[in-house]
Amino acid sequence: MKTPTEAQARAAAHSTAAPTPFQRKHLLGLEDLTREEVLRILDEARGMKDIFTRTVKKVPALRGKTVANLFFENSTRTRTSFELAAKRLSADVINFSAAGSSVSKGESLIDTVRTIEAMGADFVVMRHSASGAPHLLSRNVKSAVINAGDGTHEHPTQGLLDMFTMREKLGRLEGLKVAIVGDILHSRVARSNIWGLRKLGVGELRLVGPRTLLPKWFESMGCQLHYNLEEGIRGVDVINILRIQLERQSENLFPSIREYQVLYGLTTKRIAAACPDALIMHPGPINRGVEISQEVADGPQSVINEQVTNGVAIRMAVLYLLSGYRGGPLSEDE
Ligand code: CP
Repeated sequence: MKTPTEAQARAAAHSTAAPTPFQRKHLLGLEDLTREEVLRILDEARGMKDIFTRTVKKVPALRGKTVANLFFENSTRTRTSFELAAKRLSADVINFSAAGSSVSKGESLIDTVRTIEAMGADFVVMRHSASGAPHLLSRNVKSAVINAGDGTHEHPTQGLLDMFTMREKLGRLEGLKVAIVGDILHSRVARSNIWGLRKLGVGELRLVGPRTLLPKWFESMGCQLHYNLEEGIRGVDVINILRIQLERQSENLFPSIREYQVLYGLTTKRIAAACPDALIMHPGPINRGVEISQEVADGPQSVINEQVTNGVAIRMAVLYLLSGYRGGPLSEDE
């Protein structure tokens, strides 16, 4: 059977009263999701975003439920976005960071989460430096586990909010030419974007960066590799820029930040190679003057702040859809 196109799947979703069922207990990555599940989250987020324009920006969907934010790595956007999303759905929120907790006394990840669960957490949103940590957790706790970034593996809600922003701004994902530029090797954002965009029928997916940060095997994920910035972004509809993750590099993978900026820094002059209205995206945090110039970051093509706004809608959609899991932690009959 042929896989439906994004337009067909969207039309089908709108032509019937019942939306695509979403029966997942956890959100661990976009690799695991079907195309229909990704579309269902994006569609649900559209409805969630409408709530932002109301006088009272709150709905009772998760009243009585508790979301625990467990961040074992630093975060500004993702942590606050999940907190706001949970509060807009009327859930209670527990914020936990490894610094100052009993993790420093040797408590294991599973014991830490079981402790928080014993206080009544229904959802555990976790960021961890170890790839696969949320998967391990999902097999050992009762709560719904949401991956808020695991090592260099996946950052599914960032991938979803990136796709939501492209679709909102350009009206489609199918057929688009998208370039992801920067430290691809260490980027969980790149991997989630690749999985998601490939499922939704993006036209060309180009990865751009120095050879040391862009291994050949990324070709097997259906991407074109480019080591020259101008060539890589020529004619694209979207440029998604990543920062250099020095904290994940155990060896020097390029001579200096200055050289990286000269070869790969996105400037006004350079973005002229892309489509005239190409979207400029960045998951943050930005290193201005390194991977992106001040003018491009704050310029008319930049949708960086809109990505942040859309992140709240995506996280509301994810929490809401997971809460409908039958037989899961939120089921009344368990
Ligand atoms: N994009 C992103 O994950 O940002 P934070 O590290 O601030 O959460």
